[in-house]
Amino acid sequence: MYPFEDLESNVRYYCRRWPAVFASAQGATIVDEDGVEYLDFFAGAGALSYGHNNPVFVEVAIQHLRAGKLLHSLDTFTVEKRRFLETMHRLVLGPRKLDMVVQTVGPTGATAVEAALQLAQRITGHRAVVGFEGSYHGMTYRAASISASMAGRKTSAHLKDFVALPYVANVTDDDLELLARTLRSSVDGQKIGALIIEPTQGEGGARPFDPAYLRAIRDQCTELGILVIADEVQAGVGRTGPFFSFEGSALDPDIICLSKSISGLGLPMAINLVRRDLDTWAPGEFSGTFRGNNLAFATSAAMIETYWSDSDLEKGTEQRGLLVRNSLQQIAEDYGKGAFIVRGNGLLCGLDVKDTQLADNIAQKAFDRRLIVETCGAGDTTVKLLTPLVIDEDQLSDGLDRLSDAVAQATSR
Ligand SMILES: Cc1ncc(COP(=O)(O)O)c(C=O)c1O
Repeated sequence: MYPFEDLESNVRYYCRRWPAVFASAQGATIVDEDGVEYLDFFAGAGALSYGHNNPVFVEVAIQHLRAGKLLHSLDTFTVEKRRFLETMHRLVLGPRKLDMVVQTVGPTGATAVEAALQLAQRITGHRAVVGFEGSYHGMTYRAASISASMAGRKTSAHLKDFVALPYVANVTDDDLELLARTLRSSVDGQKIGALIIEPTQGEGGARPFDPAYLRAIRDQCTELGILVIADEVQAGVGRTGPFFSFEGSALDPDIICLSKSISGLGLPMAINLVRRDLDTWAPGEFSGTFRGNNLAFATSAAMIETYWSDSDLEKGTEQRGLLVRNSLQQIAEDYGKGAFIVRGNGLLCGLDVKDTQLADNIAQKAFDRRLIVETCGAGDTTVKLLTPLVIDEDQLSDGLDRLSDAVAQATSR
């Protein structure tokens, strides 16, 4: 399809799954240039939790542009950054008793992860990192080297100072013993400086860790002086219900990486939240030209004010999540022959069909029904549902019906 297939690199990926030319979008709907409407159950890989072109944030962005406000500002003081910092403190950090400062980093999740790892190494003096099988942290060399490779999207980064522990759904004594042994070990001659975890794995297959295991991680890392980094790039900002996916556990991270939906509008933005006493960076030690996206600061502050001044969104996400998982359970019973597994929490949900080809086929059949879903997990066997959090219930039911039809067709034979 010209010019894409002729002029764009072979590395392009999502367009192969969804070969339409998209032209406009609103909420959970994307429209292609021929006017065909698709329901979007992928939400920009989690960057559009508040829907496409959320009208509240669009208005904020238009006013920002019309008023000739700053767009780019490095890390200078600006009116928008002030409002963002104050809002974040007042509505997110303060109520959760998190005494943390905001580090603005370059605009991707991977940059936030890089910064977190560098800070941990700076503080502890130890370079080695413990992470988890199935985790994904981004595509820069270091972030890729601590990520599981994904089918069709393999990474060639192999740093040796990393060790991956298995995912833990229900913690056992063996898991605790392995954790303790690993945290005390040396990797490539280096002691462990940081443990990085997605409290609910996104690309790994919508897999929440056992909260009891998260508590053990906190306890053991505190005992050994190892920093805990929560990668909340995909699961944070309300995706699983609460603002942070680890809320209610005792993980109590030292550094939290946020990106994707933090701007509300899908603009490039990433930050780290760093425990105040660990904020030992020297001025300018971690830098980046695009740390000051003022349009994103403005829409982010609006997102926090609009959706995090009360608990309505959180409750709505939990209710809709239940509806999604119940539907997936029904699909599993109708077509899974006992093999399919439903996972996730909030609106980070997955149906593991235990077969790469079948999962791929379901996603294709869904697209034929104008439903956008992606696969993930080890072997790409999980059909992942990341609907916008603000999706209305009719659209949600409609999309789930389309998915059920897609599974029915993909499993018939
Ligand atoms: C948990 C997690 N961390 C980090 C990243 C990397 O973010 P980015 O693609 O913005 O670099 C992703 C992207 O999917 C992610 O899901």
